[in-house]
Amino acid sequence: MNHFQYHRGQLCAEDVPLARIAEQVGTPFYCYSTATLTRHYTVFRDALAGLDATICFAVKANANLAVIRTLSSLGAGADVVSGGELRRALAAGVAPEKIVFSGVGKTRAELDLALDTGILQVNVESEPELTALDEAARERGRRMEIGVRVNPDVDANTHAKITTGRKENKFGIEWTRAREVFRRAKQMAGVEPVAVAVHIGSQLTELQPFQDAFTRVRDLVLMLRADGIDIRRIDLGGGLGVPYDDEEPPSPEAYAAIIRETLGDLGCRLILEPGRLLVGNAGVLVSRIVYVKEGATRTFAICDAAMNDLVRPAMYDAHHDIRPVREPAAGTPLRAMDVVGPICESGDTFAKQRALPPLEAGDLIAFATAGAYGAAMSSQYNSRPLVPEVLVAGDRFSVVRARPSFEDMLALESLPEWLTPDRG
Ligand code: LLP
Repeated sequence: MNHFQYHRGQLCAEDVPLARIAEQVGTPFYCYSTATLTRHYTVFRDALAGLDATICFAVKANANLAVIRTLSSLGAGADVVSGGELRRALAAGVAPEKIVFSGVGKTRAELDLALDTGILQVNVESEPELTALDEAARERGRRMEIGVRVNPDVDANTHAKITTGRKENKFGIEWTRAREVFRRAKQMAGVEPVAVAVHIGSQLTELQPFQDAFTRVRDLVLMLRADGIDIRRIDLGGGLGVPYDDEEPPSPEAYAAIIRETLGDLGCRLILEPGRLLVGNAGVLVSRIVYVKEGATRTFAICDAAMNDLVRPAMYDAHHDIRPVREPAAGTPLRAMDVVGPICESGDTFAKQRALPPLEAGDLIAFATAGAYGAAMSSQYNSRPLVPEVLVAGDRFSVVRARPSFEDMLALESLPEWLTPDRG
């Protein structure tokens, strides 16, 4: 359920026609809906009712300050994976005691930042990282509460590039070594192991992998407690999928039922790190058709958005629905088209042979379900400026990240003195 619907023949974000935003902001642009963010957060929160659960939004899915603030004002904390994300979460107003720091290669500077900002927990992913964090904490006379991320060797049945819980993946500490690592951590003065953390992958459309992973976590918690390690928190990661095409991911209620069943009686505080689930359906990428070109065997709709703006189709063969901003008349015959961007590689293709109502140059289209890993993964490839982001709330909208100017794009570059003209 989202708030991008047709009203009087125009695709709107809540009460604002996307065409009106396009006129004022130019295309392409990302548009997010506050009502949809709110709905997704509250549905997820309500599904977890009765559990001692903290929802830490995975900032990597959408790092826009206004999006983070919208979610944090509803009660969300943040899951961050870099010093930059940590600073963003704080800048957006997330309380440090609701921030967890995950990631496989945190640098010493990032560990220092985690210690100095007083966040809730660092999830350690390797033994060398454990040693580094212990050292950094001892230097400050601190004892940092940590989670140890375990790799439960469970197949998430999702795209290979976003599966993380198999033993051949780089993430976490091997399930069978975890007990020994906790024992080591317990003896360190700078860290206090209080949590087991797990994240098995993203865009999961089945419950079974969660059930398998959470059952392993349960067994581990009981084992660790028997070893005298006081596990008080469990971090379950994110990963619950959303419908992009015809997939039917489990509901938050069904996901919560698995959590209750496997972990509900342990008396642990639970941390959840949903990203896509909260923001995926809350955003669209709006683009204008520049040309329609009749090729030898197919028709190409060439739009002004490209793979640098939304890389998911090129990178993961991801499907995004394409909706004309002007509502097609009922019964309009569809025709198969390739929707492509202007970048000089064939991978710059959003959809192949997609059945769409006829499109013409100048028409606006919206790529649906682009709120997660859209703007967050964008780049300036082909020297295309990052696209602006707009947040809608009811009948209001605001540009929450501006389009950089050409001067902004060049601002960090300079010519070395041997390439500058001799000024004599
Ligand atoms: N927690 C950890 C430790 C993670 O690594 C991730 C995502 C999440 C939480 C949030 O997962 P979510 O709830 O969003 O599934 N760029 C890819 C997705 C990469 C996900 C990486 N980790 C895509 O566009 O599909």
